[in-house]
Amino acid sequence: MADGPSVTLSSNDYLGLSRHPAVVQAAAEALAEHGVGAGSSRGAAGDVAAQERLEMDLAHFKGAESVVVFQSGLAANIGLIPALVGPGDLLVRDEWSHPSTIDGARLSGARVVEYRHADVDHLESILRQHRHDVTEGSVVVATDGVFGTMGDIAPLPWICEVAERYGADIIVDDAHGTGVLGHRGRGSVEHHGVVERVHIQVGTLSKALGVVGGFVGSSNRLRTALLARSHPINYSTQLPPALTAACVASLGVLQNETERLERLWRNTISFKERLSAIGWSGPDGGTPIVPIFLPSADLTRRFAARMRDEGVLAQAITNPTRSDSRPRLRLIIRSELTDEDLARVVDSIGRAAAKLGVGI
Ligand SMILES: Cc1ncc(COP(=O)(O)O)c(C=O)c1O
Repeated sequence: MADGPSVTLSSNDYLGLSRHPAVVQAAAEALAEHGVGAGSSRGAAGDVAAQERLEMDLAHFKGAESVVVFQSGLAANIGLIPALVGPGDLLVRDEWSHPSTIDGARLSGARVVEYRHADVDHLESILRQHRHDVTEGSVVVATDGVFGTMGDIAPLPWICEVAERYGADIIVDDAHGTGVLGHRGRGSVEHHGVVERVHIQVGTLSKALGVVGGFVGSSNRLRTALLARSHPINYSTQLPPALTAACVASLGVLQNETERLERLWRNTISFKERLSAIGWSGPDGGTPIVPIFLPSADLTRRFAARMRDEGVLAQAITNPTRSDSRPRLRLIIRSELTDEDLARVVDSIGRAAAKLGVGI
């Protein structure tokens, strides 16, 4: 094992907010006042003032009419989709969307059809083919804003165009875009200028916001339906008050300390330039998630193990069950990485590639 602290490239704490003093202090104060656990589901709880404050701040941030907070991003999808569609309805999803949209869809009983990753023509042909099956029901198109294992951004303006042509609603799960893309980190929907055209934005509070939790941003009507019916809200204990307070503080810091976002992007560009200089040829999805494709799962694991021995922690993605299952290392760049960290990572990648005799 290398001397000195490790450099982590598998954390989604893009802006370093999980350790920000104001965020930690907000959590500590709420912890002292309210204790550790929330004690009940939101449906049963009397006092939800802190969550309502967070929801108002998130709605303002995302340009949504209103927001509902969940315990996680996964819980948000599991709560949202069955409240939105059911038997007789159609959900059309990008094949690489996060698995929680499949879980939500299974619980809903809606028919699910997948379109090829980011392939808007294929999406259109599915909508054309199935439009007569759902004369009574609704049709919803679901995509991630940023795809977490590849780092590419969904072609949202084109997805909107097609969905509008067929009268379908759109869900964008922006777990990796929130805090990272768009003006002051408002996300991929804002980045693409389609805030008015996307009906539902899902997000997580556990990545760039550095805490935990998820949310759905949409209309007042959907908010009422989610509060009334969704299972994570009504049958599972809500977010602890200390973490809700931390999320409020974190969202404030994210919008005020814009230099964090600037640093994230400076680091991302600098890292990709250095990596290209030692032979990396992409694909570059235009986000801080950097994939390095390798010839086999075994080589990918050995590559990551070599880097780990030098104190550089990168995730080896070798899961054969996902449709985007080509083996790769996934590196996530953060604002808090120093120039020396980036140089150390690139050196370590260069040495592992040379030792294992593979190109990157
Ligand atoms: C697109 C997407 N949705 C949902 C989630 C789950 O978020 P959480 O960790 O808050 O449950 C993730 C996490 O990787 C994600 O990438």
